Amino acid sequence: MSPFRVTRIMPEDATDAALRADVLAGLTGTPRALPPKWFYDARGSDLFERITALPEYYPTRAEREILAVRAGEIAAVSGARSLVELGSGSSEKTRYLLDALSGLSAYVPVDVSESALRQAGRAITAERPGLDVHALIADFTADLELPETPGPRLVAFLGGTVGNLLPEERSAFLTSVRVALAPGDTLLLGTDLVKDERVLVRAYDDAAGVTAAFNRNVLSVINRELAADFDLEAFEHVARWNAEREWIEMRLRARTAQTVKIKELDLAVDFAAGEELRTEVSAKFREERVRAELVAAGLEPVRWWTDEAHRFALSLARHP
Ligand code: SAH
Ligand code: TRP
Repeated sequence: MSPFRVTRIMPEDATDAALRADVLAGLTGTPRALPPKWFYDARGSDLFERITALPEYYPTRAEREILAVRAGEIAAVSGARSLVELGSGSSEKTRYLLDALSGLSAYVPVDVSESALRQAGRAITAERPGLDVHALIADFTADLELPETPGPRLVAFLGGTVGNLLPEERSAFLTSVRVALAPGDTLLLGTDLVKDERVLVRAYDDAAGVTAAFNRNVLSVINRELAADFDLEAFEHVARWNAEREWIEMRLRARTAQTVKIKELDLAVDFAAGEELRTEVSAKFREERVRAELVAAGLEPVRWWTDEAHRFALSLARHP
């Protein structure tokens, strides 16, 4: 079995510095908000995997349905010899692409979660001995420095994770993807679609409370990394549809008035009873908006597919 490589693009202390800066800005600003990448320590990655199996969380199943039907077409249109996957997590749905891409020589999963990358990299290397697997521990919102692998490249960004970026972050991100690509390379983008509010809210507030545990996990990351004393049970999980922005907002609401100390930042943060901290948005899309955003980033939309029930979409776009 060939060993797979793991390269850390973000230095270990940069993670620390970035977390400090984000927590300081996020907890002292108005409204209080934290960026989503801090959910994914080893426990957060495990909890997300449990979310993908919940009856209420349809996006994973809908996207898998599209990949199962369209992987052959994606492979034919892209002709990719390298597959780069951003926010690859468990790389579970990626199997459809790896199977369909007959001329593939390299797979480059990119994630902030080292534990998820190592698990997925080990499994895929064992399944596909001929494939060069080069995992990157990196933040895809920072500079996208991809290793030299054979072209053409297909960059996959699945799971609707693009919806976790705010609109300005999203346009900067899509532009950085286009800049990292060469003419003829392609982007496969997974986007969750606007639908009935009740279906959306349930997907982010499941009966078993797994999403609530995932949401609160960001507080244990801060407790551990920055010596804070958040009481997880003192915060309630809230998922709300914002009809104007067309995104789901995840929040943590203080059940009572309380002060949280963050030793490493020399900071004490007062929460009023009922005060909320926004932890994540998950934007839902319409076809026109996805197209417009791809075009604005200099990419040319070539295919749009949905599952039978029109819950989720995959778009394929090309660097002209
Ligand atoms: N693609 C998988 C996982 C989606 S969950 C799926 O479709 O099921 C989102 C993934 O993106 C997680 O694995 C998380 O660790 C990763 N992630 C989130 N923000 C990131 C960032 N800024 N840079 C790199 N990876 C990130
Ligand atoms: N990319 C996923 C989504 O937006 C991430 C996610 C699912 C998530 N459930 C969550 C993030 C709950 C925070 C809290 O659907």
